[in-house]
Amino acid sequence: TWTMVNIVEEQVERIRSQIGETGRAICALSGGVDSAVAAAIVQRAIGDRLTCVYVDHGMMRKGETEQVRRDFEEVFAALDVVDASDQFLDALAGVHDPEEKRKIIGREFIRTFEAAEVRVFGGLAAGSADDRATAWLVQGTLYPDVVESGGGAGTSTIKSHHNVGGLPDDLQFELVEPLRTLFKDEVRAVGEQLGLPSTMVWRQPFPGPGLGIRIIGEVTRERLDLLRDADAIAREELTRAGLDRDIWQMPVVLLADVRSVGVQGDGRTYGHPVVLRPVTSEDAMTADWARLPYDVMERISTRITNEVADINRVTVDITSKPPGTIEWE
Ligand code: XMP
Repeated sequence: TWTMVNIVEEQVERIRSQIGETGRAICALSGGVDSAVAAAIVQRAIGDRLTCVYVDHGMMRKGETEQVRRDFEEVFAALDVVDASDQFLDALAGVHDPEEKRKIIGREFIRTFEAAEVRVFGGLAAGSADDRATAWLVQGTLYPDVVESGGGAGTSTIKSHHNVGGLPDDLQFELVEPLRTLFKDEVRAVGEQLGLPSTMVWRQPFPGPGLGIRIIGEVTRERLDLLRDADAIAREELTRAGLDRDIWQMPVVLLADVRSVGVQGDGRTYGHPVVLRPVTSEDAMTADWARLPYDVMERISTRITNEVADINRVTVDITSKPPGTIEWE
């Protein structure tokens, strides 16, 4: 539509004057639609002076990093895939509090981008008198992220989104956020306008902090493996049922500090529950719990309890937003 064309052209112009004729930027790619669209707009504005950085923080879903590499290599000229899982998981050791997790993850993202910037551009962020040498960081921040992190007028913090309220105070980057006034449906329209692949444009939302905010309790490698397996089954069955576009997203949450008694075969089990959190939504500001077909819920439940040792109970969250948020942390 005309509006989407205008948004792209307006942003391309703004970014050109912001970054200048020689400036360079790195874009924090999460694998999702927001950062992909932001990167595509910036690439249009400054071409190969953009380097995209995708950070594997060890809390991505099964197969996700490989998928991102395949999908994004075709679209973005320079793509840097960084394995920072040890760095993130070490920083999260012993941490239970959701906001503390979010702040740590936000901080480690920035540290990783700073290191990438030094590697790629030789360290403009180190502080130079030359103002052409600004270190630009492109992020796919949307309007709802700003509001929920307490950045909108008259709002309080609900959660610190990793790329807004979770940023460290000593940030060395200047931010470029071309989507800061947009909602998700507008971002998707811009993505289509830019000719991005529909797998990218229609991907369900996945939070930057990843599975780390879907493990209630401390994040460990073992717990991540459990949740990854359960989540992969849930996503596979949702796709098989043809529900990917009807369901906004369906987090699977591991209640890692809870155990309950079960029975399988003729043995007692004492395992963890997972929660399915299917929702429908327009913009993630509000959401309704999705009435998943019983047969789909049944397949997911049967498969998870059969295939994932240590998970012996599957529950469904039937809370709308408000009062619940979409993610549990
Ligand atoms: P909540 O849980 O606040 O989530 O209802 C609203 C939407 O935002 C996603 N979400 C995030 N996305 N960084 C992100 O990029 C974050 O820190 C973050 N926290 C929540 C969530 O998946 C949902 O789509």
